Parts: sequence; structure tokens; C-alpha cells
Amino acid sequence: MSSHVRVVPSILSADLARLGEQVREAVAAGADRIQVDVMDGHFVPNLTFGPGVVAAVRSAAPGLPIEAHLMVERPEQFVRAFAEAGADHILVQVESTTSLYRTVHAIAEAGATAGLVLNPATPVETLRELVPYVRMVNVMTVEPGFGGQRFIPTSPDKIRRVRALAPELDIEVDGGIDERTAPLVVEAGARLLVAGSAVFAHPGGVAAGIRALRDSVG
Ligand code: DX5
Repeated sequence: MSSHVRVVPSILSADLARLGEQVREAVAAGADRIQVDVMDGHFVPNLTFGPGVVAAVRSAAPGLPIEAHLMVERPEQFVRAFAEAGADHILVQVESTTSLYRTVHAIAEAGATAGLVLNPATPVETLRELVPYVRMVNVMTVEPGFGGQRFIPTSPDKIRRVRALAPELDIEVDGGIDERTAPLVVEAGARLLVAGSAVFAHPGGVAAGIRALRDSVG
């Protein structure tokens, strides 16, 4: 597991009327990755972005690694399209497919790195059999579907249990991450901080939001 804390703005809370500008602001402010929150209206009660938005983010920020977080039913249908659109990392929800092993291998075959995502009610043990085949795990710290939700306070304990099960994996967190909650999750072992509203809805702007997150974890 890397010791370096990385900030991963998610575009769900960005001003979509000027998405390219917002992504370039995040790059200029030192974002380590950008996350595209893909939702299908079935796995979560919201509908957002397709591969075309990954391609748009790729063209706005050619050098910035992109994560496609597939909050969709049967993500295996979309792996190739998101990889071809420019996603470097494809994150799939362990609850979203009956063929998770095949899906993880399809991500690798498409040239991206695979990550597994656990919803708040999903036990850590669910990861065990696939740990050898992925590089990262995302512990959702809210119920996925919307930005600006409240951080689930039991999340640090779950992060510690993920770290105990798979110390070699990079742990990402997603949902309600801001300058108050970031220290809690980093202390527990998280090293990738997905933040939507704390960055794109920060009163001081994108750079101030990213800086506040970095300053909060030292
Ligand atoms: C799933 C979404 C959110 C988003 C982060 O609900 O994918 O987790 O990334 O939203 P904030 O940082 O505003 O809680």
C-alpha cells in the first residue's frame, strides 16, 4: 500500500456547463486523479455519465489519470467502452454483477487497472477471493448515488478491517470526504480520497478545496 495520500476530485459536483475548465482547475491545483461517477439509474437511483464524458475529461486533461466508477448493473457490459474512452482505472461495485471474477479480468484485458468498490452494508469478507487480482479497493463512506451526503461514522473501522484483510491494496474512500473526515480515514489506512463537493463546491474554489484536504492530512 502506498503511503502517499492522493486527492481524487469526482466530477459529480462540478459545474458541468464548464467541465473542461473545472477539470483543468483540478489539474492545476495538483489533483492526482479525476473520478467520473457513472450511474445507470438502476444500481443507484441517479443517472449520470457515459464513456463520452470520460473521453471529454481525457481531452481536457491528457496527462491526468482517470477513474471510471461504475455504479451500474452488470458493469461487464461497459468495461471495454470506458477503457477505450480513456479510463485508466475502472472501479466496479462487488454487488453489481454475478461474474465479478470475469469482470475484473475483462478490465485488465481492456488495458485498465481494476478496483473493487464496497457499499456501506457490504461485508469486507466479500473481497477475499479477488484480492490477488486487483490493485485497489474503494470503501464507500456514503450510500452511493449523490454528492454532498453525510459521512458514515463507522467507516474508519471498516477501513481498518479492509487493511487487515488486504494490506497490499491501495484503499480509496468516497463520499462525505472533507477536511473534517479526511484525517479520520487516512489514520485508518485510506490513501486515495475521492471528493466531489469538498472540491467543486468549496466556497474558495477548486484549488482551495484541494489544498484544504491536503492540509487536513498533513
Ligand atoms: C456516489 C458519488 C459520490 C461522489 C462524492 O454517491 O460518487 O460519492 O463521488 O461526493 P461527495 O464528495 O460530495 O460526498
